[in-house]
Amino acid sequence: MITKCLFPVAGYGTRFLPATKSMPKEMLPIVNKPLVQYGVEEAIEAGMNTCAMVTGRGKRAIADHFDINFELEHQIAGSGKEVYLESIRNVLDNGIFTMVRQREMKGLGHAILTGQSLVGNDPFGVILSDDLCINDGPGVLSQMAELYKQFRCSIVAIQEVPKDEVNKYGVIAGEPLKDGIYRVDEMVEKPDPADAPSNLAIIGRYILTPDIFDIIRDTPPGANGEVQLTDALQTQAKQGCVMAYKFKGRRFDCGSVPGFVEATNYVYENIYSKG
Ligand code: G1P
Repeated sequence: MITKCLFPVAGYGTRFLPATKSMPKEMLPIVNKPLVQYGVEEAIEAGMNTCAMVTGRGKRAIADHFDINFELEHQIAGSGKEVYLESIRNVLDNGIFTMVRQREMKGLGHAILTGQSLVGNDPFGVILSDDLCINDGPGVLSQMAELYKQFRCSIVAIQEVPKDEVNKYGVIAGEPLKDGIYRVDEMVEKPDPADAPSNLAIIGRYILTPDIFDIIRDTPPGANGEVQLTDALQTQAKQGCVMAYKFKGRRFDCGSVPGFVEATNYVYENIYSKG
């Protein structure tokens, strides 16, 4: 069973400036809950109770969010307002939170490598909290943890995107095995639409086997001059052991303003208003 999930949360959130000038982008709320808490709830639901955060400068609010706020607890205890603390209390009761700081922004691959000291030598999940995933049944990471039991290799979540948007994503090509599951043979980070091997884009949910760390160490910087997780996964794919999975559920790109607004409307109408 996979018990740890890595959260790379060191990014700047440039697209949301000035909101993200002194506040981590992962703390932006979708209605009344920060993005990163949705991710943590998804990890805990998948049995990954140890949430390992790769943070950076200016991200202390994330550490504070996953800790008791004694004054607040004291003020609210016994009042009708306790209900507002329910979801975060649940998370704190069920999760363990560990943190390490990424000192330099050298890409997602580098962030994952920075998390090695927190996840050790076991397979682990990864959630990019910019990608908010919502499903009526089991969450996306839960679905992937189930698949891991069968394949025992790294798994990426994928979604079909319009061909002219593939340059925003890691893109895969592979052999379809059964409903929505592919054995990956090619992966490219942010390809030109003309060169992309397909329109199957990686979204921010992964299960990684720990050999990925040594591979990342040997992976030179790629797209945007950054160490790319996709490039390291391509090395694993050549060894025959990366699966791609078309997940069940909806995904919102909360790293962009339109996706963020869409998620806000969706959560308000379908979750928040229904209590
Ligand atoms: C990262 C990954 C990319 C993936 C995307 C999903 O890119 O590098 O492969 O498709 O997340 O959101 P970023 O969005 O950080 O540029």
